[in-house]
Amino acid sequence: MGKLKNKVAIITGAASGIGKAQALLFAKEEAKVVVVDLNLDGIQDTVSEIKAKGGQAIGVQANLTNDDDISNLVEKVISEYGEISILLNTAGLFDQYKSLLNTDESLWNKMLDVNITSLYKITSKVLPHMLEKKFGVIVNIASGAGLIAGGGGIGYTSTKHAVIGFTKQLNFDYGTQGIRANAIAPGLIETPMVKAVIDDPNSGVMDAVSKLPAGRYGQPGEVADLSLFLASDDSRYIYGAVVPIDGGLLSTLR
Ligand SMILES: NC(=O)c1ccc[n+]([C@@H]2O[C@H](COP(=O)([O-])OP(=O)(O)OC[C@H]3O[C@@H](n4cnc5c(N)ncnc54)[C@H](O)[C@@H]3O)[C@@H](O)[C@H]2O)c1
Repeated sequence: MGKLKNKVAIITGAASGIGKAQALLFAKEEAKVVVVDLNLDGIQDTVSEIKAKGGQAIGVQANLTNDDDISNLVEKVISEYGEISILLNTAGLFDQYKSLLNTDESLWNKMLDVNITSLYKITSKVLPHMLEKKFGVIVNIASGAGLIAGGGGIGYTSTKHAVIGFTKQLNFDYGTQGIRANAIAPGLIETPMVKAVIDDPNSGVMDAVSKLPAGRYGQPGEVADLSLFLASDDSRYIYGAVVPIDGGLLSTLR
């Protein structure tokens, strides 16, 4: 039997990269997957791949910065499946390492809106349904940039630090009511988000990657495997943790 049988999992950012890998794996483990993203073509691709492999999924296009889109999403999931057991907050935006003086207020606001306020918005709408069942698992995708400087620019680093605080406080406030939230801090993972960085011979990133204990960057499926562990009962005593998956990056910093 699949590890997530009878669970309903909303996965944001599931049209691409890490979110797509999570959606495919969660469906394989028999979750009913809700594929959420801005990108409609990508949503359709993910849903079709899941269905072609015999899994269950619906796609919902939503801008996670928009209250109406989120209300419609949650209503649709409740009317379709009657409950929400798992929320993977995976969608996010990178700022291409822009420093403070290269970050105008519109980029700053966009980073806040997509990377942290969206978590506030969607989790606020999902949490009451979880509390009603006294069960809910939340996995937030933070970043190594949520723990140290240099993994992004000022907007990315600030918002990813905020994702970690958000995760810990959720546990503090709701852990005793059946809600379990953890964060993942990936290092460099090969997805469209960081393709330009990986492909740029002058970025210095590949030099740093070659010096990692793992000697390579990570794959979306590896983050999906960790997400499955954190979303399943196998991690039932893990609350409010920030789990790095970075080929050893954090462990080697002096
Ligand atoms: N790839 C990496 O190296 C890396 C490292 C650390 C953390 N992360 C984090 O992992 C998460 C997934 O990133 P990825 O690498 O798979 O990137 P990606 O660009 O492949 O996927 C991100 C997805 O989020 C969606 N999205 C963005 N804004 C949205 C919005 N307002 N509403 C709905 N959907 C929206 C995009 O359409 C896209 O499909 C992000 O939170 C990112 O910050 C990635």
